[in-house]
Amino acid sequence: MDETMLALARAAMDRAHAPYSGFAVGAVVKGGNGKLYAGCNIENASYPEGWCAETTAIAHMVMDGETKIVEILVMGRGDALVTPCGGCRQRIREFAADDVPIHICAPDGLRETTTLGALLPLSFGPENLA
Ligand code: THU
Repeated sequence: MDETMLALARAAMDRAHAPYSGFAVGAVVKGGNGKLYAGCNIENASYPEGWCAETTAIAHMVMDGETKIVEILVMGRGDALVTPCGGCRQRIREFAADDVPIHICAPDGLRETTTLGALLPLSFGPENLA
C-alpha cells in the first residue's frame, strides 16, 4: 500500500453517494496489471438496492479488462474498522487469492492489514465450479 492508493481512496470517499446512511466509503483495488481502480458506495432511495465502494471498484476493474486483484484498500470513518461486508467479501473472492492483502484505512492512513482468507475462510469460489 502506498500514498497513491490512499489518495485515490480519499478522492473516492468524496464521491460517495450516501445521503441515507451518511457513511462515505472509498475502495481501491490493484489489478494484476498493476493498475488501480477506485470506487465509492452508491446508495439510492430504495435502500436495499444500494451498493458498496468495493463493488464499484471491482466493476471498474472488470470493465477495463482485468480479472485479477492483487491488493485492496478500504477507507471509512468512525471508531470501528471498516472491513468489507459479507457480500463484498464474496465478490472479492471471485478475483482474488486467499493471501491478497486488504488494508483497512481511515482517511489519515492505515489502521490494519488483513487478508481475504482471514475475512472469508473456507470460501466457495470459481474452483468449486470447475
Ligand atoms: N459500505 C461500503 O461501501 N463498504 C464497506 O466495506 C462497508 C459498508 C457502505 C454501504 C452503505 O452505503 C454504507 O456503507 C453504510 O452501510
